[in-house]
This record gives sequence, C-alpha cells and structure tokens, in this order.
Amino acid sequence: MVDPRTQPVSRTGVAAPKFSDKDLYSLAERYGTPFFLIDEATLRRKVSEIEQAFTEFKGVFRVAYSVKANFNPSVIRAFASEGILFDLTAPSELEFITRAGGSVQSVVYTSITETLLEYQQMLEKGVRKVVIASHNGLLNLAEAASKADVKVSVMIRVNPEVHVHAELRGSMGHGKFGLQFNGGSHDSAFHVLKKVLENPSFRFEGFHFHLGSQIEDPSCYAEAIEKLEAFILNARKQLGQFAVRTIDIGGGLPASYGRKVPTPKDLGAKVVGQLNSLIESIGDKFTLIAESGRFLTAEAVILVSRIVNTKNFGESTYVYVDAGYHLLPDAALLRHEYPVEVVPGGKQAPQKVVLVGRLCDPLDVFPTSSRSKLGGAEVGKLVMFRDAGAYSMVMNMPFHSQPRPFVLIRNGQGSYAVARKGQDVDRLFMDEGGDCLPNQTPAAVTDQSTA
Ligand SMILES: Cc1ncc(COP(=O)(O)O)c(C=O)c1O
Repeated sequence: MVDPRTQPVSRTGVAAPKFSDKDLYSLAERYGTPFFLIDEATLRRKVSEIEQAFTEFKGVFRVAYSVKANFNPSVIRAFASEGILFDLTAPSELEFITRAGGSVQSVVYTSITETLLEYQQMLEKGVRKVVIASHNGLLNLAEAASKADVKVSVMIRVNPEVHVHAELRGSMGHGKFGLQFNGGSHDSAFHVLKKVLENPSFRFEGFHFHLGSQIEDPSCYAEAIEKLEAFILNARKQLGQFAVRTIDIGGGLPASYGRKVPTPKDLGAKVVGQLNSLIESIGDKFTLIAESGRFLTAEAVILVSRIVNTKNFGESTYVYVDAGYHLLPDAALLRHEYPVEVVPGGKQAPQKVVLVGRLCDPLDVFPTSSRSKLGGAEVGKLVMFRDAGAYSMVMNMPFHSQPRPFVLIRNGQGSYAVARKGQDVDRLFMDEGGDCLPNQTPAAVTDQSTA
C-alpha cells in the first residue's frame, strides 16, 4: 500500500514537509499531544517561491511577511534571516519583530484603527513606513510625525472595489479596508493623496491594496492594478506630477489545504507584464511589495493530535481526538478542512468516519473530505492536520480550560527544538484570574518535557 505521507500534499509548488512516524511518536511521547510542529526549511522555501515568481519584474521586488498569520518568534526569526519585510498591524507586533531578530527598518505599518497613540508609539520606536486608510488616520499620523519631528514615508491604502474570489474578501463591499479612489468626502484616496503631498512631514511613497485571503483567482489583482493606473494618471492631471515609489499588492496568496490552487507563479504570470507596462506608463520604476501570511506559513506547520476514543453511531464511526477548534478555529468558523492523515495510515473502513474534537460543542467536528486520509484510525494512533500554520496557533483559546500546547520546530539542520513551551494547568489557572484570588502564588511556565 502507498503511504500517503510519501505523496506530497502541497499543490502550490513546494512539497509539503514530511516527518517520519518514528519522529512524530517520539515527539508525542516527550511533549504530549496535541502539539504544533513547524518545518523551518518549508518556511524558507516559500519565500523563495514567491521571489522566483517575480524575477521578471523590472523594478525591485520585496516580499513582506504578514506577521498576523503566525507571530511565533522562531517563525519571525527564520523570515528575518531571509531579509524580507514585515507587514504589521499592531504596536505589540513590533516588539515581536525586534526581539526575534527583525529590524525596525524592515517594517511596513498598516493599522486598522490608525490612532494617534499607536502612530506615536510606532514612530518613537523608529518605524518610518506607514500605510494610511482614512482621513482621520492621515491627521493622526501628521500630528505624530510633527510631534516626533520625523519624516514618514506614507502609502495610501485604496480599496479598488473589485470582485474577489476568495475565502475571505477585503475589497468590493468591504468598506472597512482602504479608501475609495474618489467620492465626495475627505475619506477618498484622491483627497488624502493631496494632503499627503502637501505635508512636509510626509514623503509620499505610493499605493497599497489588500484584496482578501486565500484568493482562488488572481484576476482580481490585474483588475485592481488597472484601476490604480487610471487613478494615478487622472490624479496627476489634477495634482501635478508626483512620484510613485512603491506599489504594495497586499496578501492573499492561497495555501493548498490539499487542493489545487493558484501558485505564486500563476500570480506572477498574471500581473508581472502588466506591472512592467505600468512602470512605462507612469514613468516610475517603483518597488513592488507582495505581502503574504497564509502562503508563507500554512503548509510549513502540522498539528499532531492523538486518537483518544472511537464510537459507532448508526452508519458512522466517530473518531475522537485530543485537539479541537480551540487550536484550529477556522475549522469551526469557516468550516475549513485541514487535510488529516492517520499516522501510520491504514485501510479505509467501509463506514463513514467522522472526526471530532474534544470540546463539548456541536461545532467541534473537523470538516473532512477525500482529501483527508482517515484509514486505520484507532485509539492511541496519532493524526496530523496538515497546512495548520496560518491563523491557527496565534488564535488558540483556552476553552474548556485547555492549556496551550507545545509548538516544536524542525530546524534547518533537521533537529527538533521547542518553539513555544506548553502551558500547564497551574499557569493557565493563574493567567485566567487564579492569581487574583487570595493566597495564590503565580506559577512559572513549566516545560513539561523537563519537569
Ligand atoms: C493588509 C494585509 N496584508 C496582508 C495580509 C495577509 O493575507 P494572507 O495571509 O492571505 O496572505 C492581510 C490579512 O489580513 C492584511 O490585512
């Protein structure tokens, strides 16, 4: 029988990481289940896969890692050593970047809230590249820059209002993100651009858009670029010449999740020619930034869990694992399938297998399809959830008083290390308010492997 783990699951160009059964069982023995396991080599290969897709671009091309997808310090450290940029959305993320080995100069700050306080904090720490997306944001950044007496490179986030075929959309109908090109109010890209160009604290850098996440058809990027070109040419007629130094096309590159999805190469093929023509038409050899969170991290991480019970119910076998949607929230929120493999795999049972988590909640049923390999599921065996690295371990919640599991990493040399210690119940109790009760002493995080 063919072992499913010798068949690459990834359809995005880079083979999914492989781990031997022996390694997984010995890690489970040492650290307990469930645990997340990061493959550093895959993180790095994903960066070069994006870079290679844009080699024909005539200007400078930079990848920016969207830290929100996975802020584990070991993940940040791997990306920092690749020399890429970081897309940040909160001042606390900057702390993670600088402490994990990234530089302030590599940061592009794109806030949702755009408050004066956060801009003051970011400028004070040395951030100088900021993306604004509202008139109030412009006023707040102007005040922060003038108080700090610094010059800030400003990008304007537009919402190009194009249709996006994606799991999560941020363009048409999603006014939360970005400015309309025109429109009557001061909250338009045109008005904000005028103000940025007039303000001596600002250096106008260029434009930014972010269309969504897990984008399944790259045509929306081409449509957005087309609209942006028309806007730039038209704005110059009214405001005079201004230089466009950077265009940031946001995130959205899809991860596989066991399906065939467009690759970075497909995106490059769709837009690089168009972007080179844009250089000609606007006369500026701008820097191009492609942001990515999901694509860079999802496939580099697996979640390993153990089968703890099985039950027959009608025509189905229910297989209970010691994970739940508290570790993979999108399994419940988006009914998102993380392809599952039983370790070691076995013959597919004739009856339907329903994979359920440990939470007392009807939503805690993992979506599975033919992409998941559930043959051989029996109590005591491990199961791995593939492509589990994005928007997962950073969203873990302690529902049912579940302590946070270990995060492990296989480093570039192939050896395993701890990337986040598991929490024990004592620590969880204190963090959840136990330490507010009388006569309780705070506990230290316990590394169960050495306890
Ligand atoms: C501005 C911005 N850039 C990039 C991303 C990353 O998107 P993805 O993880 O789909 O690459 C996000 C995600 O929310 C975002 O808001």
